[in-house]
Amino acid sequence: MSIPKNLICPLCAMPLSQKERSLCCSGEKIHCYDMAASGYVNLLPPGKMNNAKTGDGKEMLRARVNFLSCGYYDIISNTVASLIDENIPKEKITVLDAGCGEGYHLCNIASNLMKSKKVSAIGIDASKHGADMGAKTARFKKLPAFFAAGNIFSMPISEKSCDAVVSMFAPIPAGEAARVLCDDGVLVVVASGVHHLWEMRSVIYDQPRENTKGIKCPEGFVLCSETTVKEKVSLPDNETIMNLFTMTPFYHRCPKDGRERLEKTESLDVTVEAIIHVYKKA
Ligand SMILES: C[S@@+](CC[C@H](N)C(=O)[O-])C[C@H]1O[C@@H](n2cnc3c(N)ncnc32)[C@H](O)[C@@H]1O
Repeated sequence: MSIPKNLICPLCAMPLSQKERSLCCSGEKIHCYDMAASGYVNLLPPGKMNNAKTGDGKEMLRARVNFLSCGYYDIISNTVASLIDENIPKEKITVLDAGCGEGYHLCNIASNLMKSKKVSAIGIDASKHGADMGAKTARFKKLPAFFAAGNIFSMPISEKSCDAVVSMFAPIPAGEAARVLCDDGVLVVVASGVHHLWEMRSVIYDQPRENTKGIKCPEGFVLCSETTVKEKVSLPDNETIMNLFTMTPFYHRCPKDGRERLEKTESLDVTVEAIIHVYKKA
């Protein structure tokens, strides 16, 4: 795994470079960050965010990996990769996934883009477990992807050093995306479509509601394109259904009787619908 050249110290913002199994900055007071066995590095700034509970927990991440690795959402990350490829006609590209979770999507995006470009992929998530899982997947699949635990609202990344920042179903760090993107870079935001997981909502809720359509344009950006991807996927067993449920926000706010109904559901055809927004800097 190669270490991206655009990492900066979360404490003093000086460039980070590899010294044996650590990343160290070139500041007056040298700060060093150890690399885990998987290759991920904890670049969360010291403070209340830097603890094992920050970001999504192990149960949610494991459910997500089990579900995503069956390919049910590949239509989304495949389309994100195509849109980046179309918008960034460069031979070498740096892609950053802000709020990458366990890294499945970033690995899929990197492996798609590698067919036509030299890729450096960086995944940042507040969850150390997520970054660790991402690094393990990248190593297993031999992908040029580096993962760090970090705060996407204060990214350990130098200015104007990324060609694409991706935000999939995660908070959108508009200011930081504008800072780290090159002038001709793109911010790709994936949000749920109106009928995303409609059939699951119909099991959980007595009166399911549609998602609201459209998201506000992130400050400092202009919208270039909006692409809807939509398909029905068949979830063949309750384990797969519960994996999907566990990785969604419904898991935290579902009524007890709705959860009981879902636990008794043996198979389900669900709509996957996502809207992929491509923005350029204003
Ligand atoms: C709903 S999950 C989406 C994960 C992944 N993008 C996907 O689509 O599977 C949102 C992710 O954003 C991360 N996150 C939320 N706030 C964050 C922050 N301030 N810094 C870094 N990551 C953050 C969470 O830890 C979580 O993994």
